[in-house]
Amino acid sequence: AKRVRIHHLHEMKSRGEHWPMLTAYDMYTAELFDEAGIPVLLVGDSASNNVYGYDTSLPVTVDELMPLVAAVSRSAKRALVVADLPFGSYQLSPEQALATAVRFMKEGRAHAVKLEGGSAFAPHVKAITTAGVPVMGHIGFTPQSEHNLGGYRVQGRGDTGDQVVADALALQEAGAFAVVMEMVPAEVAKRVTHELRVPTVGIGAGPDCDGQVLVWQDMAGLRRAKPPRFVKRYADVASVLLGAARDFAEDVRSREFPGPEHVFH
Ligand code: KIV
Ligand code: NA
Repeated sequence: AKRVRIHHLHEMKSRGEHWPMLTAYDMYTAELFDEAGIPVLLVGDSASNNVYGYDTSLPVTVDELMPLVAAVSRSAKRALVVADLPFGSYQLSPEQALATAVRFMKEGRAHAVKLEGGSAFAPHVKAITTAGVPVMGHIGFTPQSEHNLGGYRVQGRGDTGDQVVADALALQEAGAFAVVMEMVPAEVAKRVTHELRVPTVGIGAGPDCDGQVLVWQDMAGLRRAKPPRFVKRYADVASVLLGAARDFAEDVRSREFPGPEHVFH
């Protein structure tokens, strides 16, 4: 299959086609989501609280994310693989942002990177894109800033909607190939989507974004906690796995497993 490129995403926007994006952090999920036709896979810093067991996205490091990016890049034959820059790995300066992006491209074999922040991060986006690395922006509610934003809250209500539009335009101007909007009123996301040449990707940003992204453990119901309002659960993987592990445990205890067909002589 032919590799998805950023121009394909731009072409889908001009044709009015909406497209899906999922997170992936390992080989089998990358292979399955690729086979399902998901054109963009994000190795999110959400690995922090979905893979590594931290309680927020803040603690995860570049060194922890790098092997996950490499695994997804080796496994996805068609999808465009985006590496998320974790907290502290790009905010210090455009030079730091570029250095981290280069590591994800060289060591992780990513195809693009993503970072959080609005117009204040336009210079960081510009430094990375100037070096030839595609950048996806991320505005609205940005989890790395949760302590400054006062927790998980919708961003861009009322007068602050104009700021979301201005941030999106600044990122586009700096060279971003797409902009994620998280927990933004649908009306604001619709405005941004119409004003930008590049595609928008929504998560809790209503139905008018060009793309929609979810964390796969939320989408497939591996995470058992009540998901946020913007999540739709398409499966109950937690129940399937729990049942399988319980059945295995019971079979071992009752000596049902291994059976004759599993044994060498
Ligand atoms: O880290 C992540 O999973 C994300 C998406 C939810 C956009 O940034
Ligand atoms: Na993220």
